Amino acid sequence: MKINVLISEKLLQERIEELAKQISKDYSGKEIMILSVLKGAVFFTVDLTKNIESKINFEFIEASSYGDGFESTGNIKINKDISASIEGKNVLIVEDIIDTGKTLKYLKEYIEGKKAKSVKICTLLNKPERREENVDVDYIGFDIPNKFVLGYGLDYEGYYRNLPYIGYIEV
Ligand code: IMP
Ligand code: MG
Repeated sequence: MKINVLISEKLLQERIEELAKQISKDYSGKEIMILSVLKGAVFFTVDLTKNIESKINFEFIEASSYGDGFESTGNIKINKDISASIEGKNVLIVEDIIDTGKTLKYLKEYIEGKKAKSVKICTLLNKPERREENVDVDYIGFDIPNKFVLGYGLDYEGYYRNLPYIGYIEV
């Protein structure tokens, strides 16, 4: 399988630093509950939060919409739930990619239902052409074309998450 580079490691890290600065500014003086979406957002969550100056806590949630293939099934299921109360917290959902928007729409409503004080979304990648659900995304690393991407947390059939850059394969 040939993997082409879409976003280099250097470009990724520079943009992530910018996002972290913006988030630190926006949440200045407030605590943040980072809600990282497993497994794809783990690499992004680590690099992003190393550069955030606010006081932060971490929670993790795993939801799935994709099977092992390329297309979203639209059925969102929570495989691993959060373990702490988020009532009254300023929750920042950190996700790898927003594609159809089904996952984040579901997760945002789910978290709002748990009485968070505020819920914002930060995604590393955004595929605007593919959007089916209207979701407000507060922070976007990169808008990307409609290609299947992998690396830096994103997988193809469970593999390639550990690549330090974002690559794509022709399908
Ligand atoms: P959505 O519900 O369609 O927005 O899908 C979001 C989820 O689909 C992401 O959290 C990813 O796990 C997965 N996904 C969407 N596009 C890609 C891709 O290009 N590569 C790898 N995973 C993807
Ligand atoms: Mg995901």
